Amino acid sequence: MHTRVLDLPHGPAIVVRPLASGDVDTVAAVFARLGAASRRSRFNGAKPCLSHAELVELATVDGTHHALVAWVVGDPRPAGMAQLVRTDRSTAEIAFVVADVHQQHGIGSALTAMLLDDARAAGIREITAQAATDNRAALALIRRSAKVIDVRLDGPEQSIRAAIA
Ligand SMILES: CC(C)(COP(=O)(O)OP(=O)(O)OC[C@H]1O[C@@H](n2cnc3c(N)ncnc32)[C@H](O)[C@@H]1OP(=O)(O)O)[C@@H](O)C(=O)NCCC(=O)NCCS
Repeated sequence: MHTRVLDLPHGPAIVVRPLASGDVDTVAAVFARLGAASRRSRFNGAKPCLSHAELVELATVDGTHHALVAWVVGDPRPAGMAQLVRTDRSTAEIAFVVADVHQQHGIGSALTAMLLDDARAAGIREITAQAATDNRAALALIRRSAKVIDVRLDGPEQSIRAAIA
């Protein structure tokens, strides 16, 4: 995917670009904007800070890892990112975050829709996402972007599987 500019129907204008491989600074800038609750939701557990090794892993872009980053027009710091890790020829695991200050304006939905377009173009037909069972935003976002096949509960976590073909 190339750089895209989008005017969100109920939110700001955003610019979305693929993450450049190894761009640890952008990943760190996104995660620096997450409050404790958002970090917990993203990692399904407490995560007050990310180690350099974790940042490097999150910034990996290759044949298996793909990520998109969103900026709100007028805000120099990145507002969110959506990531995909291919798990098989036609399956992938996805994860997404939006800076607390920009949540609930449609950025997560827009980023995920674009990530899933890229996934389809790469032959991926089914995605999974791990989220806490009380993470209503994650489930709502996936329901909005894909056809949920099942939601498996595993203790405090849910594994959401959805078709995107
Ligand atoms: C999940 C997350 C990315 C959503 O981003 P966002 O930009 O706020 O999402 P959107 O504005 O596009 O809203 C998507 C849907 O979630 C719902 N939603 C958003 N925040 C919500 C909240 N706090 N509680 C309940 N529903 C919520 C919206 O109403 C919308 O539902 P709809 O399609 O039925 O209208 C964001 O809340 C976040 O970063 N959370 C922390 C990380 C996380 O939980 N990641 C998911 C696990 S990998």
